[in-house]
Amino acid sequence: MPQTRRQFLALAAKASALALVGAPLAGLLPQAARAARIGSASGPALLLPGASGLYGLLQPEGNLTLTVASVPGLLPATRASMLAYTARQGGALWYNPILVLHKGQEFRARLVNNLLEPTIIHWHGVDADWRQTGHPAYAAAPGQAYDYAFPVTNRAGTYWYHPHPHGLTAKQAYLGLASFFLVRDPEEEALSRELDLTLGVTDLPIVLQDKRFGPRGELVYAPSQDDLLMGYRGSEVLANGARQPTLSAATRIYRLRLLNGCTARLFNLAFLHRGRRLPFTLIGNDGGLLDAPRTLDQVFLAQGERVELLLDLRGLKPGQAVQLVNAAFDPMHNEGMPGMEGMAGMEGMAGMDMGGPDEGAAYPILRILVSRKEPYGRTIPARLSTLPGPSGSTSLGVTGSGPRRIELALDRQANRWTINGLSFDMNASPIVVERRAPEAWEFVNARESMPHPMHLHGYFFRVDARRGSPEQVRQRAVDPAGRLATDLGLKDTVLVWPGETVAVTPDFGRPDYPGEQTFLLHCHNLEHEDQGMMLNVRVL
Ligand code: C2O
Ligand code: CU
Ligand code: CU
Repeated sequence: MPQTRRQFLALAAKASALALVGAPLAGLLPQAARAARIGSASGPALLLPGASGLYGLLQPEGNLTLTVASVPGLLPATRASMLAYTARQGGALWYNPILVLHKGQEFRARLVNNLLEPTIIHWHGVDADWRQTGHPAYAAAPGQAYDYAFPVTNRAGTYWYHPHPHGLTAKQAYLGLASFFLVRDPEEEALSRELDLTLGVTDLPIVLQDKRFGPRGELVYAPSQDDLLMGYRGSEVLANGARQPTLSAATRIYRLRLLNGCTARLFNLAFLHRGRRLPFTLIGNDGGLLDAPRTLDQVFLAQGERVELLLDLRGLKPGQAVQLVNAAFDPMHNEGMPGMEGMAGMEGMAGMDMGGPDEGAAYPILRILVSRKEPYGRTIPARLSTLPGPSGSTSLGVTGSGPRRIELALDRQANRWTINGLSFDMNASPIVVERRAPEAWEFVNARESMPHPMHLHGYFFRVDARRGSPEQVRQRAVDPAGRLATDLGLKDTVLVWPGETVAVTPDFGRPDYPGEQTFLLHCHNLEHEDQGMMLNVRVL
């Protein structure tokens, strides 16, 4: 792929920055050495979700207590401390448990805040009343608790949970607070049987997060003014907490449930085998299984989004490996901003200081090493699931005046990103909708902008069309409406590129929450969100 002018400028800026500073060069060497070893050394093992421990599988029984605290030595990459949700059940201990629930089950949990600042849990993508899903108005003070109780009404899918106290979400998520909330149902379990997939063995939840480290391997969250504007990107990308880990695999199909848990990094994921892209099958997006599988060779995964993939390793021999990589793309930072051209360089320089991969550069994430043969004769079914149709009437549109426009743009005076020119105000609800039916919305990202992954709490939406997409997005369209494979099915987060208009229909008819609701609409670049790129959405 030819280098874009922007990438070239960033590289040039890095080179001169290095010449100027000199000193950080020493810090770069271990990094460079590590990069040179990629593909040869085996590295740490990918943390597989076990019966307890960090990211262990936990089927909650009764009332589950999740205690938020800093846990020394927990981060696999450096054995530094990280923040975690600690749970105990039947004598076992979990950190950031992967919660496994069945549709129809009652979920009861108590958050105990042992931090020195407020926190609250948001169940991202999970159907729950606004008081039950982490509106910052309900943040629990230090030493306080918050109780959750709701029936699990979602279809099967890969949902997740993370903090949502206003102004502190990015930091707390970055320092470790995030894990999966998996819902299972008969349809999904039938597919798992058909493909002989076992959660934790051949069906693997993997959270991707980037981190910056201090001299002793400790996690550093110290965003500069530029970071607050662009997002705080780490110097290394971790998979389930480890640096470039290895998954030892058999010659069969694996299901990977990938979550982008970064505050600000966008991925373009691909699998490389002998320098070539190995195609994979997309089977699920944010809101669970698609109706039919889609074969892809790369996929954008924005902050907050999830994809479920099937990776077929039957064509490999023991001893051969596949790399999950970020494939090069144009991150479109500062798109069309002549006045900010220098900032791409600044940002590149900061990334280089840390020895980290630029967002749009090619770099490895996870190595999958085929270590054994396994007879496996299953085939991926042509139909995966039946998606629910729209609820209620078909009256789309806002009181006959066309779709509701949601404009994303930089407020140059305040130097922050806004939604319809507004910043978050806890007591204001600039968007008021009526429950009952889907509404037509359009996310309109300014031409002079950067990509914003837009997320709505409480309801799923369908993506109907993309217009004005940049070339690297348009290339991937799977239908005449310009949608990508990652737009299919049900979505709670959608990436909106600079200059793009994305038409969506959030369905305010389902679920039917009791009483008035105040949900949130925000950018899942969590620095943007904490800086106020978020609005209340009142549901009457
Ligand atoms: Cu995952 Cu309001 O966010
Ligand atoms: Cu959410
Ligand atoms: Cu944003």
